[in-house]
Amino acid sequence: MTPTETPNPSQLPRISVLISGNGSNLQALIDGCAAGRIPARIVQVISNRADAHGLTRARQAGITTAFIDHRLFADRAAFDAALANKIQEASPDFVTLAGFMRILTPALVQQFLGKLINIHPSLLPKYPGLNTHARALEAADTRHGATVHFVTPTVDAGPAIVQGILNIQPGETLDHLKSRVHALEHRIYPQALAWLVTGAVRYADGQTTWQDPALTRNRPQIIREDAPLALND
Ligand code: GRF
Repeated sequence: MTPTETPNPSQLPRISVLISGNGSNLQALIDGCAAGRIPARIVQVISNRADAHGLTRARQAGITTAFIDHRLFADRAAFDAALANKIQEASPDFVTLAGFMRILTPALVQQFLGKLINIHPSLLPKYPGLNTHARALEAADTRHGATVHFVTPTVDAGPAIVQGILNIQPGETLDHLKSRVHALEHRIYPQALAWLVTGAVRYADGQTTWQDPALTRNRPQIIREDAPLALND
């Protein structure tokens, strides 16, 4: 396709997004698709919470939404089976977790392995789990950020695609740090999805693999808060 050709929306890779809350990362993905920076189409947004603001964002963008209440299921496996069915209804090429606050079962992860990515608010492997910003401040870290990674059965441990890195400011408050990391997330997640849908990056043999042989296998790309993209910095 030449740059002047407008892609037929029905031929674009199909994206499903799973959320639980505000959906600011979802919005960044919606905006990236609308602007053509991500050559893909979000075809479905699923939330496990009815009051997730991200559902409103999706509806405003004309995207099909679904709500599946995890509290109505006997266990995690039953919820994930219903979730997998709902995802399959949309036949997505890729599934993105954007603040989806449920741990996925290995069965669901295996079903979408290599097609499933997540954004996590720390420089993994540092600080998997919750309260990442507070933990970075408590540890007096000088650097912090966010990671987009392929999802594997171990929580927050899949191979990284890209990391957004910032320097923690002296005396920085939790809220300030959190908002800076969020802003970085809104840069790195659309970029990661664009790489994924164009085949620039893929999951192979448990690793992140780059199409460009000049890029080091199994190393994430780096985006710094105050600088443009630097490949394999
Ligand atoms: C983000 O900080 C993301 O890294 C984490 O959950 C948060 C979601 O925020 N996984 P939002 O709902 O996208 O605003």
